Amino acid sequence: MEKRVAIIGAGISGLLACKYALAKGFHPTIFEAQDCVGGLWNHTIESTKLQNAKQDFHFSDFPWPSSVQEMFLTTPKSWTTFDLMLNILVYYLVSNLSQRNHANLLYIVSILLNVPKGLLKEYVVEFVIVCTGRFCGLPDIPEFPQDQGPEVFGGKVLHSMEYSAMDNASAAELIKGKNIAIIGSKKSAVDLAYECADVNGADNPCTMIQRTVHWMLPSNYAWGVRIDFLYLNRLAELLVHKPGEGFLHSALASILSPLMGTSLEEDKMIPPHGFLQDMYSCQILMLPPNFYDRVVEGSNVLKKSKSIGFCREGLIIDGEDQPLKADIVILATGYRGDQKLKNIFTSPIFQNYILGPSSSTISLYRQIIHPRIPQLAVIGYSESLNNLYTLEMKCRWLAYFLDQTFQFPSTKEMEKDVAAWDKYMKRYAGKYYGGPCVGAINIWYNDQLCKDIGCNPRRKKGFYSELIELYGPGDYMELAPQILRTETSPENNNL
Ligand SMILES: Cc1cc2nc3c(=O)[nH]c(=O)nc-3n(C[C@H](O)[C@H](O)[C@H](O)COP(=O)(O)OP(=O)(O)OC[C@H]3O[C@@H](n4cnc5c(N)ncnc54)[C@H](O)[C@@H]3O)c2cc1C
Ligand SMILES: NC(=O)c1ccc[n+]([C@@H]2O[C@H](COP(=O)([O-])OP(=O)(O)OC[C@H]3O[C@@H](n4cnc5c(N)ncnc54)[C@H](OP(=O)(O)O)[C@@H]3O)[C@@H](O)[C@H]2O)c1
Repeated sequence: MEKRVAIIGAGISGLLACKYALAKGFHPTIFEAQDCVGGLWNHTIESTKLQNAKQDFHFSDFPWPSSVQEMFLTTPKSWTTFDLMLNILVYYLVSNLSQRNHANLLYIVSILLNVPKGLLKEYVVEFVIVCTGRFCGLPDIPEFPQDQGPEVFGGKVLHSMEYSAMDNASAAELIKGKNIAIIGSKKSAVDLAYECADVNGADNPCTMIQRTVHWMLPSNYAWGVRIDFLYLNRLAELLVHKPGEGFLHSALASILSPLMGTSLEEDKMIPPHGFLQDMYSCQILMLPPNFYDRVVEGSNVLKKSKSIGFCREGLIIDGEDQPLKADIVILATGYRGDQKLKNIFTSPIFQNYILGPSSSTISLYRQIIHPRIPQLAVIGYSESLNNLYTLEMKCRWLAYFLDQTFQFPSTKEMEKDVAAWDKYMKRYAGKYYGGPCVGAINIWYNDQLCKDIGCNPRRKKGFYSELIELYGPGDYMELAPQILRTETSPENNNL
């Protein structure tokens, strides 16, 4: 009997997982809670742009058409759906996964149907691919000091997720003429600050309160070098120690490591850590155009504060006698992707495997499989600096895994490998480690996947090209299965 495969989520991860599973002859079903495909890209705020240049962020066999002029797209405008629509069930919210029996493992996928509301359904499958997204669904709401929580505040508090869910006109209406404070210093915070400044100008400045100052790039160049040359070629990878590396790589990385950049003195808005540390831990961010002009003109104010509390008029921040007055506080404080993944299991054993009691991040073999949870894969939890590129590679590998093309290591060997990768990631992120990220060694990571499935990891022609040229989605093209596709726009995707 054919293996029944369920995919949860129809964002980029779910679509790719489906595409590659189909190409191997499986007939997976995607369960999607919303009414459309594309995941979080359906709910981005007006100022959102891709952080990657268009030539780096596309499906390997489907580059952007020449009519797309923007270098950093204002959200992807079309989805290649590879004729997957027959496999997608929308309005199907998977409420939990349970196991029918442990000897011959079958998953029961419980669905809560949104339309008609409240109807429960169950599906029995042999394999589950969880693609529910790390940055959606469950917001990370900070804990505030006692008696200084949002309940004492006279204004409105919302999370960036709620703001993103609003249509652009309602969002602009909400912030118009208001004093806005934003908590957070990463991409959502910066985009929100920019958007508020655009609407309100210097009359109602928007304040962004940063617990940690991060490196924020005004363009995709750093010191005259395109930043992808710092992480997407093999020469750059020589600077870093890599999990499973041999003596030569280890010796070279030890000699070259000092080039990695040292910490700067903590001062005003200069990050206390090296630029490459942020980059290697996927914390680097691209600023919206002319962001600093808005800071100079006074439309945006940047403040630093380790602790933050609410009072009736606004926020209490470090070193200031008077509260920061605000009408609206937006928490751009990220998501609990780890907890969301844990919550989907009914079994406390699996819950504990996926996220131990003391951990806040999930460790997966090849960033895909949990060594102790059989017949299940997770796509889209670990990050890279170009997620579409990495997600596609993972889905290719997973299709071969489903097809049992390669011999799988023992649980013990997998756990050893997982530990080596964790060690590498924590080493470079240091105290800023926020979750798995293959940022600086994306090619090394792809090499491991290629070797597993029996493909040549060297994708370039000649020694110098291999060392210096940038790697990108096109390099693994011929590994891509060829199946029919159609181009649709998000508007047409409402099934
Ligand atoms: C605003 C924003 C901008 C980003 N920009 C970039 C960028 O420029 N470059 C980059 O490399 N990365 C970027 N990222 C990272 C981003 O996470 C990935 O690029 C990618 O889009 C993630 O796709 P995904 O399919 O894993 O998750 P998502 O797009 O979040 O999709 C998850 C899907 O699962 C569905 N779902 C969740 N739970 C359930 C359930 N229980 N049952 C059924 N369905 C469910 C959701 O409805 C959703 O459709 C960005 C992230 C955010 C939040
Ligand atoms: N392409 C785009 O334009 C775009 C737009 C938005 C988001 N994204 C992506 O989406 C993902 C999520 O981004 P995000 O910005 O929403 O979340 P995030 O990267 O998780 O950042 C959360 C921010 O909130 C701060 N924070 C968390 N708890 C706090 C607390 N208790 N007190 C004060 N500050 C606190 C964090 O501070 P610390 O830094 O101190 O931890 C951090 O600055 C990222 O991958 C990002 O690249 C991309």
